[in-house]
Amino acid sequence: MNVSIVIMAAGLGTRMKSNISKVLHEISGYPMLYHILKEASSLSDDISLVLYHQADTIKSEMEKYFQDIHYVIQDHINFPGTGGAIMGVCPKHERVLVLSGDMPLVLKEDMELFLSESAPVVLSTFFAKDPTGYGRVIMDENKLVQKIVEQKDANPKELEVKSVNAGVYLFAKDFLENNLAKLTNNNNQNEYYITDLIGIAKSQNLDVKAVFVDENTFMGVNSKYQLAKAEELMQQKIKKAFMEAGVIMKLPETIYIESDVIIEGESIIENGVSLLKGSRIINSHIKTNSVIEDSIVENSQVGPMARIRPKSILKESKIGNFVEIKKSTLQGVKAGHLSYLGDSLIDEGTNIGCGTITCNYDGKAKYQTIIGKNVFVGSDTQLVAPVIIEDDVIIASGTTVTKNIKKGSLAINRAPLKVVESFFYKFFGKEEK
Ligand code: UD1
Ligand code: MG
Repeated sequence: MNVSIVIMAAGLGTRMKSNISKVLHEISGYPMLYHILKEASSLSDDISLVLYHQADTIKSEMEKYFQDIHYVIQDHINFPGTGGAIMGVCPKHERVLVLSGDMPLVLKEDMELFLSESAPVVLSTFFAKDPTGYGRVIMDENKLVQKIVEQKDANPKELEVKSVNAGVYLFAKDFLENNLAKLTNNNNQNEYYITDLIGIAKSQNLDVKAVFVDENTFMGVNSKYQLAKAEELMQQKIKKAFMEAGVIMKLPETIYIESDVIIEGESIIENGVSLLKGSRIINSHIKTNSVIEDSIVENSQVGPMARIRPKSILKESKIGNFVEIKKSTLQGVKAGHLSYLGDSLIDEGTNIGCGTITCNYDGKAKYQTIIGKNVFVGSDTQLVAPVIIEDDVIIASGTTVTKNIKKGSLAINRAPLKVVESFFYKFFGKEEK
């Protein structure tokens, strides 16, 4: 698409009350800024990100995800404000779409709304029930935009205006080239406002167009309360899309799903489940309060209250309550209760008894446990890794396995049970009845 995109993210974010940059606060598992850059990247080949405060941290964070972003450092000392933010940008295309880094919910199609407009200046507006904090869009009696007045500069009459500036603009590049130098900082914040470009366009009798947008989609995140609001809205969107694609969700408002998670086929996600970054759920049933992170679950049942940690692959398996699995591949395995399976490879037909633990860590390094097909691991077994259990093995309940076990064997290391009759009565001095 022939449009350059500028994302302003140089502000201090004071209202966030945090040492972490505002735009690095996470929503659905990724920094706020990531979401808008991802959408922008799908629309344009020329994206400028304007930075100043914590520029290095933000840049290195974004470089993890994006390669072709132009990083522009704002001359914040001499030209603070959103107008100052766009002064150092050199757009490639004739039209320039300007957005803020604190708008995590704006999608590509929302950006496209602006591109059908041909006026040299296009702004975005919505009617806010509570306009506090927003710039007010002042219109004349014919509903034509005259100017934008910031809350801190508005007179009492202007403060009553409910049509507010959503903070997204589409400018003709030559309009910016001709007029950016005309901005002044003659206002209550002593800042150069991008919003003053509207009044400047009007004074030149240029066409200014207002695009009406959805308040929820274009909300700006300035505080931690708004961060929570934006999270809620993004979660609603994510879950709605999955349900429409055929996933069953029980009490969806209690489910948390990060933004790159994939759920396919006939899957059921029960209440309280968290599906974290990198997870892929295929034809599976994830029961109440389970947590799955960066793992693949296919044709399986997990939970309730199971924790599947990163780099696990579960296929055709049944994982029950209080089972923790980490960096393990299970194919056709049952692990019904209270187990820890870490760094393991477990094959078809194997049953992991209650309380089984892979002792995968000796305090220095991690070791692997390999279990073959049709192995019966009795309850309360400890598998001291590295260890290999071949196919068709029975491990007796309570065994500590410290060496490899050959195919078809029984492994048992129980101390003989000693029974001392009437000991209770001797010990407590009570009469036997
Ligand atoms: C801005 C608008 C306001 C609009 C609101 C919508 C101005 C003057 N005001 O107010 O009319 O209703 O957005 O959400 O534009 N930034 C810079 N450099 C700076 C200052 C800010 O890059 O010197 C960036 C910030 O990082 C942020 C964006 O610009 O991403 C907007 O700044 P913010 O302080 O959030 O402006 P608002 O007060 O929300
Ligand atoms: Mg803002």
